[in-house]
Amino acid sequence: MTDGGDASAPDELRIAVLASGTGTNLQAILDGPHAEPDSGARVVAVASDKPGARALRRAAELGIETGVFPRSDFVDRAGRDDALADWIESRDVGLVVLAGYMQLLSPGFVERFRWRLINVHPALLPAFPGLDAIGQALAEGVRVTGVTVHFVDEGVDSGPIILQRAVPVPADRDRPTLEEGIHATEHALLPEAVRLFAAGAVRHETGSRVVEVGPA
Ligand code: GRF
Repeated sequence: MTDGGDASAPDELRIAVLASGTGTNLQAILDGPHAEPDSGARVVAVASDKPGARALRRAAELGIETGVFPRSDFVDRAGRDDALADWIESRDVGLVVLAGYMQLLSPGFVERFRWRLINVHPALLPAFPGLDAIGQALAEGVRVTGVTVHFVDEGVDSGPIILQRAVPVPADRDRPTLEEGIHATEHALLPEAVRLFAAGAVRHETGSRVVEVGPA
């Protein structure tokens, strides 16, 4: 199920990324500030529900440990998520990033990684949560949509917001053009959120949904 290995500096933020698809957001993180050896943060594990996910190949090519957790290998979703959480925790991970991970996570998983679990979503939440956010935005006729990076809670794309960036909808409402703009924005915003988290610049008050993002 796994391969690879590593040795971290003592105070390094160890990051796990979960991805179901092509992994361009994973690649953006790998190419971002965390590619530098002394950046203080490093992707140490990549897991997927899809054995053939390109994201896994991107990780393996860099010698990053990979794990595959298909739903069909487990009795139920909670069992799969328990095994996935154990796998992540045993690697001493301080941040879990959902980068195109297309599975709902069970409440038990969310609880184990609360305030250490972030997701990138292709809309300005709370508008257009769930599947096909770009299609939802086009169908609604909005002039501006965007990208959100947020902490994950038990709901669907409903957790506290860390960063957002707007993307204009093209005048001709051309979907490929909008997708290109959204994806380019994701590839900038997600590594930036990871950088800020690693620097200790992402803070929240107990009991509040409002996340403060500022200097470390
Ligand atoms: C991204 O658009 C993400 O927002 C969505 O799925 C896509 C994943 O793309 N949830 P990739 O696998 O990172 O290329």
